[in-house]
Amino acid sequence: MSVVHPYQSLLPAFFGLFASAFLGTALGQSSGQTPAERGKYLVEVAGCHDCHTPYKNGQPDMTRILMGHPQDIKISAPGKLPTPWNMAGSETNTAWTGPWGVSFSTNLTPDKNTGLGLWTEQMFIDTIRKGKHGGTGRDILPPMPWPGYAKFTDGDLRAIFAYLKSIPAVMNRVPQPVPPGK
Ligand code: HEC
Repeated sequence: MSVVHPYQSLLPAFFGLFASAFLGTALGQSSGQTPAERGKYLVEVAGCHDCHTPYKNGQPDMTRILMGHPQDIKISAPGKLPTPWNMAGSETNTAWTGPWGVSFSTNLTPDKNTGLGLWTEQMFIDTIRKGKHGGTGRDILPPMPWPGYAKFTDGDLRAIFAYLKSIPAVMNRVPQPVPPGK
């Protein structure tokens, strides 16, 4: 008859305790991140600042975070580009001219009149998934790379939206796109 040493029977219990303490910490850390914190990370990694935060001296100016094309910089007509050039961007990297006309990066801050302040989470998710303004409106123009962002999970898009709702609201009315040939 084999006798189980008391320590031997305790070992699995010790490992169990150790593992759950370890896992608990690891899980605790990831769930300790708020959706807005995760959204901030996703916005940085996905390069939203490159187009939605106006450039100053060749870099996104983080004092004007995600406010879109500055309303005081007037751009009226699509530029005529010599072959083989297809598109060009403004020095703020918030306005582009190409075969689609002129497009302007939009205000992603929570301002109610000029930004996403009145948007629901569902509108935001539908916009990115379908490439339509507000989820149901006109097609979103280049160079907004929504077909790639459409592959974000619902959780990712919710986190991004939570982050966008948490940044300072900036009143900045971005112009409407200019159709080609205008
Ligand atoms: C390469 C440039 C570029 C990048 C990168 C980019 N955007 Fe855009 N985005 C644009 C442009 C330009 C528009 C406006 C297009 C139009 O008017 O149809 C736009 C439009 C949008 C709209 C639609 C707003 C509306 O009123 O319909 C949302 C929402 C948006 N972007 C979110 C994001 C998010 C979130 C990211 C990062 C995950 C991002 N964008 C990255 C250029 C960009």
